[in-house]
Amino acid sequence: MMQQSLTDPSLCVLGFESSCDETGVALVEAMGRSTPRLLAHALHSQVELHGAYGGVVPELASRDHIRRLLPLTRSVLAQAQRRLSDVDVIAFTRGPGLAGALLVAAGTACAMGAALGKPVLGVHHLEGHLLSPFLAEDPPCFPFVALLVSGGHTQLMRVEGVGKYVLLGESIDDAAGEAFDKIAKTLGLGYPGGPALAKLAQEGKADAFRFPRPLLHVPGWDFSFAGLKTAVARQVALHANGADLATALYMALRADWAASAQEAIVDVLVAKTLGALRATRMDRLVVAGGVGANRRLRERLDAACSQAGVRVHYPPVALCTDNGAMIAMAAAMRIAHGVERAETTYAFDVRPRWPLDAVCGSG
Ligand code: KG4
Ligand code: ZN
Repeated sequence: MMQQSLTDPSLCVLGFESSCDETGVALVEAMGRSTPRLLAHALHSQVELHGAYGGVVPELASRDHIRRLLPLTRSVLAQAQRRLSDVDVIAFTRGPGLAGALLVAAGTACAMGAALGKPVLGVHHLEGHLLSPFLAEDPPCFPFVALLVSGGHTQLMRVEGVGKYVLLGESIDDAAGEAFDKIAKTLGLGYPGGPALAKLAQEGKADAFRFPRPLLHVPGWDFSFAGLKTAVARQVALHANGADLATALYMALRADWAASAQEAIVDVLVAKTLGALRATRMDRLVVAGGVGANRRLRERLDAACSQAGVRVHYPPVALCTDNGAMIAMAAAMRIAHGVERAETTYAFDVRPRWPLDAVCGSG
């Protein structure tokens, strides 16, 4: 069996992401254990495709990934001035995500790998997010506390190295991204909700409404945002009788609801994260996942961390949400750190549900 290993001087990894509503392709190059370098990446967002339906339609997502993946691959190779024969490993998101959507990158990576005789590696989507700050100009070093805030997951982790992740706490119901999306829907902002809610919040007063901060004063690092979502929906229902809906007052209220809800989510995320840093005595924080693009969250974390003497690292804003670069990066780092090898069996599967601790290495 052909395997890619640590001893190769340089490693060129092509990464595919198709777990939800973005098709992402990227090429990274790794030299030994030093942080891999992003050579090129390309992304196609399906926001317009799903917009009319108010959310992701899985079958449409899969079909669109099929249409986009190879043209994006050609574009990435052209940008990086590389040929397919220069690629050493093909990485793909193995899960979690939508089963049909995941199968597109998995099937393409394995077919391409078999045709070219190159090894392939299935990557955990959340590990991609977790390691995405290594794509920034000033990458972190291990160990650190990670706040992972994506659409489906809110997790605090102690990260000792590649594949060495200890879960400290996580969302027990709605994740932060999910709360952003559901509150946005309640306010009539449609899909995708997070960025729209954040934009509307800029026009509102964050202290206009005192929404609940669930679990804020409960010991431990778990999160719960379902009650906050319901509290906002109740407030909106109080005002949303037909006559009020079109008035200027209602429009102003909407911005206040958005700002106050965002502030409640950010308050909880910041307090729990600072608590986890204190408890683990770490002075380095990594923030990753789609909600990591939120400007208010970054402002508040920056302020709190600077006061506590903690260094914060984010991925570039454009690489907070799903992309191929984080998948290529995670694969390159797993191989370079000897956590996993890419293989040529090509018998792929996908894991729509897949806990992150399943990818922890033994060391
Ligand atoms: O990490 P991601 O791209 O996908 C998952 O793996 O889930 O995260 C998507 C989530 C969505 O819930 C989206 O609304 C949220 O990230 N999001 C934001 C912002 N940009 C994306 N939430 C708040 N503010 C933003 N600027
Ligand atoms: Zn994601």
